[in-house]
Amino acid sequence: MNKILVSSYEQLSDTAAEEVVNQLTKKPDSVLALATGSTPKGMYEKLIERYHEGKVDFGQAYTVNLDEYQGLPAEHLQSYHYYMKKQLFDEVNIASDHIYIPNGLAEDARQECQAYDSLIERLNGIDLMVLGIGRNGHIAFNEPAAWFDCNTHLVRLSESTIQANQRFFSEGEEVPKYAYTMGMKAVMGAKQVLLLAGADKHNILKDALYGRITSALPASILQLHPNLVVICEEKAE
Ligand code: GLP
Repeated sequence: MNKILVSSYEQLSDTAAEEVVNQLTKKPDSVLALATGSTPKGMYEKLIERYHEGKVDFGQAYTVNLDEYQGLPAEHLQSYHYYMKKQLFDEVNIASDHIYIPNGLAEDARQECQAYDSLIERLNGIDLMVLGIGRNGHIAFNEPAAWFDCNTHLVRLSESTIQANQRFFSEGEEVPKYAYTMGMKAVMGAKQVLLLAGADKHNILKDALYGRITSALPASILQLHPNLVVICEEKAE
């Protein structure tokens, strides 16, 4: 594990963006697995800046998002489709047919999950996966459970995740109870994983990186990843 300690959110975002830029410079047709949530927002801003400065080109890149709420259409303000469009895709030169996100409105959930795993295989796996970490230790939407789920699956979100994500939804609007998420096979198969943690993730990050490896704290599996880079604010250490 390579841990990079940074002193501010600004620096976290900058360092993370630089990792993505380096990856795309090395391999312009990289497959990037992308996260949502508050943590990577600054990284996306920095990537847009670098794109405008001509320092990065998304023209050949592919993106596969980690997860999506079940039941939300792509235009819904809280869907991860919409988030990605606003935070990155509308602002850079990524080809629309190189963008993949699970379809929250898929009629057949099992088929959707299988198709997503086949897609990752067809793309020859993920070159760089960007992850945040949930307050309960979830990565993507792999929630604490009795076992590690291997493949893309439909997951019932934990009450704590629903509560944590309620802040993004307007008053009276319910957070979906289910979501599609990549499983641990995609996470562990990614050639490099970039885990981002702001100061608010201090306790859970420590347990994830140095505690027991257990599906009760899904991020702990990352201890076994051969190429993990953690970028965290000093206070998160
Ligand atoms: C969300 C996402 C995760 C994200 C996590 C932390 O629910 N599904 O991919 O990493 O929660 O989010 P935040 O960065 O807002 O704390």
